[in-house]
Amino acid sequence: MLEITRLTVEHLAQGCVTDCPAPRIGFAVQSDRNDAELTDAILQVGDWNVHLPRDGQTGTAYKGPALLPFTTYGVRLTVTDNTGAAAEAETTFETGRMETPWRGQWISDPAFTFTEAKVSPVPMVFRKTIETAKTIARARLYATAMGIYEVELNGQKLGRQYFAPGFTSYKSYLQYQTYDVTALLTGHDTLTATVAGGWAVGSFVFTRKNRVTADRQALLAELRIEYTDGSVEVIGTDSSWEVTENGPVRMADLYDGETYDATHKTDGWHAAAPEILKITPAITAEYGAPVTAHEVFKPVAVTTAPDGETIYDFGQNFAGVIRITLQGSAGQVITVRHAEILNPDGTLNTTFLRSAKATAAYTCRDGKQTYSPRFTYMGFRYAGIKGVKPEDVEVEAVALYSDVEHAGAFHCSNELLNQLQSNITWSAKSNFVDIPTDCPQRDERMGWTGDINVFAPTALYNFELSRFLEKWLRDVKAEQRPGGGIPNTVPVQGYGFPATMPEMAVDWWGDACVNVPWALYEATGSIDILRTMYPTMQKYVKACRFWAGFGIGKHRYIWHTPSVLHFGDWVAPDVPKMSQWQARSKYTATASLFYTSSRLAAIARILGKDQDAALYTDLSRKVADAYCSVFTDGSGRVEDEFQTAYVLPLYLNIFPENVRAKAAENLVQLVEKNDYKIGTGFPGTPYILFALADSGHADTAFKMLLNTQCPGWLYEVRVGATTVWERWDGLDENGECPISNDGTDQMISYNHYASGAVGAFLYRRVLGVEPLEAGYKRFRFAPLIGGGLTEADGTVDTPYGKVHAAWQLADGVITARVTVPMGTVCSVLLPGAGEFTLGSGTHEVRGSL
Ligand code: BGC
Repeated sequence: MLEITRLTVEHLAQGCVTDCPAPRIGFAVQSDRNDAELTDAILQVGDWNVHLPRDGQTGTAYKGPALLPFTTYGVRLTVTDNTGAAAEAETTFETGRMETPWRGQWISDPAFTFTEAKVSPVPMVFRKTIETAKTIARARLYATAMGIYEVELNGQKLGRQYFAPGFTSYKSYLQYQTYDVTALLTGHDTLTATVAGGWAVGSFVFTRKNRVTADRQALLAELRIEYTDGSVEVIGTDSSWEVTENGPVRMADLYDGETYDATHKTDGWHAAAPEILKITPAITAEYGAPVTAHEVFKPVAVTTAPDGETIYDFGQNFAGVIRITLQGSAGQVITVRHAEILNPDGTLNTTFLRSAKATAAYTCRDGKQTYSPRFTYMGFRYAGIKGVKPEDVEVEAVALYSDVEHAGAFHCSNELLNQLQSNITWSAKSNFVDIPTDCPQRDERMGWTGDINVFAPTALYNFELSRFLEKWLRDVKAEQRPGGGIPNTVPVQGYGFPATMPEMAVDWWGDACVNVPWALYEATGSIDILRTMYPTMQKYVKACRFWAGFGIGKHRYIWHTPSVLHFGDWVAPDVPKMSQWQARSKYTATASLFYTSSRLAAIARILGKDQDAALYTDLSRKVADAYCSVFTDGSGRVEDEFQTAYVLPLYLNIFPENVRAKAAENLVQLVEKNDYKIGTGFPGTPYILFALADSGHADTAFKMLLNTQCPGWLYEVRVGATTVWERWDGLDENGECPISNDGTDQMISYNHYASGAVGAFLYRRVLGVEPLEAGYKRFRFAPLIGGGLTEADGTVDTPYGKVHAAWQLADGVITARVTVPMGTVCSVLLPGAGEFTLGSGTHEVRGSL
């Protein structure tokens, strides 16, 4: 049977509201017949019909008559396969405002001034009562804010989202949300919007800078009602709305938490007034993946700390909020603190949260009640509660993260590796909070570019991230400096490193503007993202080339900029001092220039820009030559030896063919000398196992992967990690934090996904699935069998459908299975079975060791 398993508009199966004049439609099909092929696909959007080309599955842009704003369109897809079997699917999408000027005005509280440094303002509450008399056909509320907001209609929260309007490069664009209120309007209705400081007005970044985008909160909203008689009424924010700062949310701050008083009667209402913003952003329909509630955890253990605080252990480190339900009495105050780890005496260890207070304080009213913060989140495994006895309260915790679909799974015969896979996905979820962040707990939670630069390929195996990453890449593009540098954190929002030279390009971190679009392209087959980001990439590589160009001779291609401005081999465990990580930056920066320029050459080729491709290839060759001439003895030995200095040239193919094997042996020796422990920082960690395995040293790669001594991926797992850590030595064998005051002691996060970038090795080598052509149109199934593993099993969600791959090893016989989605071709390479190609369907193949 032929079946359409996915039909999406702008990557959403349902509920898409878009301002895009040419939304992209994608689909996946499935058949229970092997070698089934699509022979036709007819797409109908509104009145527009088109026979799709063969590559139309990964995204066909609408090219029919201009779409109208505020309109719902039907999408119908009919497909036929080579046996004549047919299938049909339908969905709808809705256009948003499509640049229709707002009739609502930005409003704020003219009486509210907020000047205190390093804190967030008290939330503002707006309200308006609306009378309607006629029968309503369709009603939508469009809303956005300076700050983060929630809207209620007659006391009922609209939408599932936390932290609307989301985090964007506010000076360039701001998102608005669309709420379908057709069925909720009664004729006499009250809209109430609470706007907290959030990223735009509240304190953010470890300097706790506030009022970065606006001096106080503001709201922009429009209720658009279409009546059955064909008339349209628009009720926008204006001075007829009322405002107060005297609502039940007494304090809300992304780092510090929330204070909520359920006894508080909201009063002090007065007229709101039009507000002139400091910025004039474009206001566009929400894209990306809004933050919503996901897993709900019950405590796995409850203990009492020496000071009487009740400590709840949720068994998993994550980002989110607690939810308490109790029979309370008016005035009873409950405080909830959060931490990732405990001190040896069983109290919460909050030292590494730095200035983040991460505390929820709730004042009860009488009766049964439930409280969960709405304007903040914390990174935690443990919550410490005071003010209520454990037997009187039900305590749960809710994971909050961007609404991204789980797209992959990896499982194997080694339980520690399975836990590592779980830790990697939890660190991803905890750090996909509207933007890709570094960590969810301390006073950062910023869009550090270097972290997602190394993690994106792994993330894309585990989640469908088209909307999430495309949105963030818009921010990257928007925040690019005139000189081509990419800020280290995107959106910048109050952060400004390196302060001295704002146009500075910083290797590995800025590289995200090239590597993240590439990773997305590889996973989804979407050329659009390469096209959109190409000018940004070009400017960036030009800037890198400029900053690298200050030497003479071969040194003209060695990136020597003062190491203090670069991060170098960031968090490399063999030199546990920040300055030593940074001192390696001439290696990492030069390799980065090779990486971005050679990748840009490949992208230019894909986009048909052959002249550009030739120029970037030439640049990358010169950089490779310089790396080998300046840093090595010419025979594969790096003069100043450390793991990353070998890993990068091996993985990236910087070494000439004749010294490659020797260089790989030298790396193996270094790794052996280090007892198979990891010695790489951010730039080397994702690639070291590939560098070893792909140069004939799979045994060494497996020994390092499976090493349970510190530092190593499975060390963290062995001592109880449930997420990936920033530092490999975050806890010692006794579960205590051993890091001394050497300038790096402020960097102890237990939820940092960067070194989880090893996840790509699990999928690509251990499971053996990797794309040969973008979007997995052609992909390889070539498991790397070793390390004593006896089986692996996993799935990879491709735009064409799910690849299911598995292998088992018993008595030297390998039994492997692979499901090849319709529209793709799989190239199999299995020991003892050779190399061959499979068409769509599920296949079992045998090999031997
Ligand atoms: C962040 C990192 C980031 C780094 C760069 C840290 O404070 O947590 O993950 O990439 O700074 O300096």
